[in-house]
Amino acid sequence: MSAEADPTTVVSSTDGRSFRLRASADDGLRAGDFVTIADGHGDEHLGFVESLEEVTETTTWAAGSILPGPTTPRPFRSGSARRSERGVVADFFAAAGADLPVGFLADSPDVGVGLIPKRLNRHTFWCGQSGSGKTYALGVALEQILLRTRLPMVIFDPNSDFVRLGETLPQVEPSVAAEFGEREIRVLRQGDGPDSLRARMRTMSRSARGALLRLDPIIHRAEFNAMLQLHPDLHLNEPRELAEHLLASDEPGARALAERVENLGLFDWHIWALDRPAASDIVAERPAATVLDLGSCSNSEEQLTVALSVLNDLWARREERRPVLLVIDEAHNLCSPDLESLLGRAVRDQVVQIAAEGRKFGLWLLLSTQRPSKVHRGIVSQCDNLTLMRMNSPHDLADLGDLFGFVPRQMLAQSSRFRQGEALLAGGFVPAPTITKVGARLTVEGGIDVKVPMP
Ligand SMILES: Nc1ncnc2c1ncn2[C@@H]1O[C@H](COP(=O)(O)OP(=O)(O)O)[C@@H](O)[C@H]1O
Ligand SMILES: [Mg+2]
Repeated sequence: MSAEADPTTVVSSTDGRSFRLRASADDGLRAGDFVTIADGHGDEHLGFVESLEEVTETTTWAAGSILPGPTTPRPFRSGSARRSERGVVADFFAAAGADLPVGFLADSPDVGVGLIPKRLNRHTFWCGQSGSGKTYALGVALEQILLRTRLPMVIFDPNSDFVRLGETLPQVEPSVAAEFGEREIRVLRQGDGPDSLRARMRTMSRSARGALLRLDPIIHRAEFNAMLQLHPDLHLNEPRELAEHLLASDEPGARALAERVENLGLFDWHIWALDRPAASDIVAERPAATVLDLGSCSNSEEQLTVALSVLNDLWARREERRPVLLVIDEAHNLCSPDLESLLGRAVRDQVVQIAAEGRKFGLWLLLSTQRPSKVHRGIVSQCDNLTLMRMNSPHDLADLGDLFGFVPRQMLAQSSRFRQGEALLAGGFVPAPTITKVGARLTVEGGIDVKVPMP
């Protein structure tokens, strides 16, 4: 289909909403293309090609949707279509309020692509195989959210990839760098500084504390009860004072609990807040971004405990209805259906609960992973926005097709040939499913790939 109406391109619509068209095979039409349709009644509409139904040596039959525009289309029999001019597509994105710039159309690098910021009030799933550029692209999106919205975010960062989110690159325009400088970014990592990564057990829910201590309320009645009796205002200078406090009790349950905590090695963990600020306290101050550098923890149990304490606290405060974007990179670590430990399951179940019920309280998830099947169904099925980067596995693609029925299958299939940095964006946060080449980062990447040393 040349820019001029091709006489062999014929379009019809039986309902004014969907269309079928026949075009010359030379036009190379693909799912995801935009077409401008003249309906034969004198009006033009923007159309979106969803599938190629049959392609012969000479002819392509395709089907798609007519996008909402200034005039309401009526059914028509013999309209004509042409590939939409770039300006028309750009205007369509602008009219939909897609003004968080994240890149360019993969096929037309002069058309910018943006996300619709107000639609971040949904959960988002972000996936692609390892090395496809997920974390880089996520950084591009988070930078724009930071600059152009006032939606605070909490980043669960297991690979220390976002610890330099506050540092702009030298080529960034000074005015943009200055705006970054004004946004409060707190990076919490293990250590002794004021922004160290800490958890507070005594304010966690009883089931969360039970999971951490591997206590069952029925099987370990006495110990569980001793845990409940611990006074929330109990003042401790160091974790081991808890053992002294418990051992001073006459209750056998309290003494057993002291042994349990000792046996689990919890006194040796470095994450306990005691009277210092916990990560959840810092998140509650609502900085523009809080990066939880989980990669700085000494072991995965400490990571899970910090994650649980933050998620648990946000859930406990849900009635405050203060919006926050919870960004979980490598989400399979915290959200897998196969987690075995009680602690891991407690974290996952808290995310499942937020996925199912958090939206109306302003708790919005953005989950990134390389393995869709390693994120609990109860979480993925609640996601309305999708970013899909290169994905080779036919099994995973079929799975995504089932979970994200609103994405044309042929666009999903194209992802196996994506280059690094290319992404299919679909769902409420874009005006139409779009294959995008993500733009350049403005801030320094943290854990960039280690290179092979060369002479
Ligand atoms: N769009 C891009 N432009 C430039 N470099 C990129 C881009 N996407 C990824 N990279 C680089 O490729 C490497 C892997 O990307 P990353 O985002 O960590 O992949 P993933 O998170 O999918 O495993 C990183 O070193 C990153 O800097
Ligand atoms: Mg990554």
